[in-house]
Amino acid sequence: MTRIVYINGDFVPESDAKVSIFDRGFLFSDAVYEVTAVLNGKLLENAGHLARLAHSCAELKLHLPVTLARLEEIQQELIARNQLREGAVYLQLSRGSTGDREFDFPPAGVAPTLVLFTQARAVITHAKAVNGIKVITLPDIRWRRRDIKVVGLLAPCLAKEYAHSQGADDAFLVEDGLVTEGSACNAWIVTAQGTLVTRPLSNDILHGITRRSLLELASRHAIPFEELAFSVEEAYAAREAFISSATTFIWPVVAIDGKAIGDGSPGPVTRALREIYVAQALMATA
Ligand code: PDD
Repeated sequence: MTRIVYINGDFVPESDAKVSIFDRGFLFSDAVYEVTAVLNGKLLENAGHLARLAHSCAELKLHLPVTLARLEEIQQELIARNQLREGAVYLQLSRGSTGDREFDFPPAGVAPTLVLFTQARAVITHAKAVNGIKVITLPDIRWRRRDIKVVGLLAPCLAKEYAHSQGADDAFLVEDGLVTEGSACNAWIVTAQGTLVTRPLSNDILHGITRRSLLELASRHAIPFEELAFSVEEAYAAREAFISSATTFIWPVVAIDGKAIGDGSPGPVTRALREIYVAQALMATA
């Protein structure tokens, strides 16, 4: 089945979707994005993703050409046209093209470029969700506005590539001795005292939608938590560690820099949180 994608008002086969070589997303990474999980053919936590998109646009003075309500209709139509049951919808908005390479923002009236496409992938049943992943720590070399979901993702690509070359699955990024987040996910530990810890919101990290839901779930299920930056040493000494994102939900972290976390297998708090999150997600999309 040919994938149908959305580009600037049209639903077309993916091979017919064309963007100018002068598009500012291509030349300057002048673009923002969102990834919303799809379960049972329905969008999960999409209000949060669209609200964050609005934040990214506002911070960059990027004009959204359609309302958030219309965006959701487009997402739903793509899911239907591609008969997607499980996976994600990717959405990207760039500042468009003036037909040349100019650093200055384009004059008013230049249309932004809006593209969306679906990706089929296993979200609920995934080997890494069961077995966990190994991460290494790497310096966080990204720009300072990580609260804005920009498409300039070379640093995370390099981090993942280097992690793979070292036999690991992913990386925890580190600044001033403290873990900021994962390459494309939020980072968590469970301390020896059983407290869930993740870095507080600031411009240092992406304000994860899954992160927010997990904190709400922890609160509802009386799991003690603290929003606090943790060091690499604290991560090594943690009883458990895990990552969260829209496309992974929760994946346990079983080793950091070659050191086993806890007994080196996914821990009970991590497994319980994933189970609760998955149950809630399945209910929300039933
Ligand atoms: N990444 N931190 C970073 C740097 C991310 O790129 C992401 C998401 C997250 C988790 O946010 P959320 O829970 O809202 O997905 C945290 C997406 C999945 C991606 O780039 O594909």
